[in-house]
Amino acid sequence: MLYKTIIRPLLFSKDPEESHEQALALLARLEFLYGTLDRIYRIEDNRLKVKIGSLTFSNPVGLAGGFDKNAAAPKIISAFGFGFMEIGAVTAQAQPGNPKPRLYRLPEDHALINRLGFNNEGATAIAAKLAAREARGGLPAIPLGINIGRSKIVETKDAVADFLSAFEKLFAHGDFFTLNISSPNTPNLRDLQEKTLLRDLLSAVQDKNRQLAAAAQQGEKPVFVKIAPDMEFSQVDEIIEVVESVKLSGIVATNATAFMRNTVKSPLGCEPGGLSGRPITAMVTQFISHIYQNTRGRLPIIGVGGIFNAEDAYDKIKAGASAVQIYTGFVYEGPAAVKRINQGLIHLLERDGLKSIADAIGQAR
Ligand SMILES: Cc1cc2nc3c(=O)[nH]c(=O)nc-3n(C[C@H](O)[C@H](O)[C@H](O)COP(=O)(O)O)c2cc1C
Repeated sequence: MLYKTIIRPLLFSKDPEESHEQALALLARLEFLYGTLDRIYRIEDNRLKVKIGSLTFSNPVGLAGGFDKNAAAPKIISAFGFGFMEIGAVTAQAQPGNPKPRLYRLPEDHALINRLGFNNEGATAIAAKLAAREARGGLPAIPLGINIGRSKIVETKDAVADFLSAFEKLFAHGDFFTLNISSPNTPNLRDLQEKTLLRDLLSAVQDKNRQLAAAAQQGEKPVFVKIAPDMEFSQVDEIIEVVESVKLSGIVATNATAFMRNTVKSPLGCEPGGLSGRPITAMVTQFISHIYQNTRGRLPIIGVGGIFNAEDAYDKIKAGASAVQIYTGFVYEGPAAVKRINQGLIHLLERDGLKSIADAIGQAR
């Protein structure tokens, strides 16, 4: 209530990117409140626990890539009750992103449009920041994923080397990695969703993964690929085939859409960039359903797109997602969003006579 009546109007009265940066800076200074916030917002309940490969999430609600691109405040953000989170997108080279303005709110649509273009401090700086956080106990207590994007100046032919460079620099600092080949805002990035290029990229990353794991005498890191919703199901099927053949840990579905502008009411709907939030909820759920059915549930799916409440999260889980992530819903619903989703999920499980989230995955078939 406090968020929607006081804090959100204040935040929404300013430029969207500026208020996001200010909120992150403020959160970074509030790290001393970690324990208090965690006690307020975290729901501990065994029914919410999910496992994806070697990863265990204490609840299925994660923070999506792009919210804390530079790992400015990962620990305090985790205290809003998330079960896991991603920082980034991080690119091998630091880069400023696209010219501003590049982030728009569409309040009547409960949506955002962004064309940030992977503005970030680069893999070297962010690895150093995470190392310093680790040394002082400043990392979240939940699994921390690192979302990796492609540097803008790099051509498609050099994209594999660029991803490998970021992956290597960040390897020690992430509990899992998400390869983002689906931002609508880096020219030609989505080319990597094409079968041959994708196979080259994913097998090179998995080779590097094995090599770095052996050198560090530890297990390989779970690697996911994040795909766009803007493709035919036949192309999704090709991606699934490659992902399974290189034994990736799963698919993050999906990124924001470059399309669907005819569905939004706001005049800002004509701005180029990725549309996220309520307009994409149902479309992404169908996408997840397709992946789940095609793989008969073999391939873990992290569902993301237009989740605002427990029903939205539950729909994605029933469609086949093992876990979900939110971005736009967190901006609109505020700090209590994750707690409300987790409490609501427990009620929905009870209503349906299910013992755990694992029992609900793919039940919508
Ligand atoms: C401002 C903004 C920046 C984003 N940056 C990234 C990013 O760096 N990496 C990424 O994988 N996804 C990024 N995304 C996409 C989100 O992670 C998510 O996939 C998408 O917004 C759909 O989920 P939502 O409807 O809950 O926002 C970004 C989204 C927004 C709104």
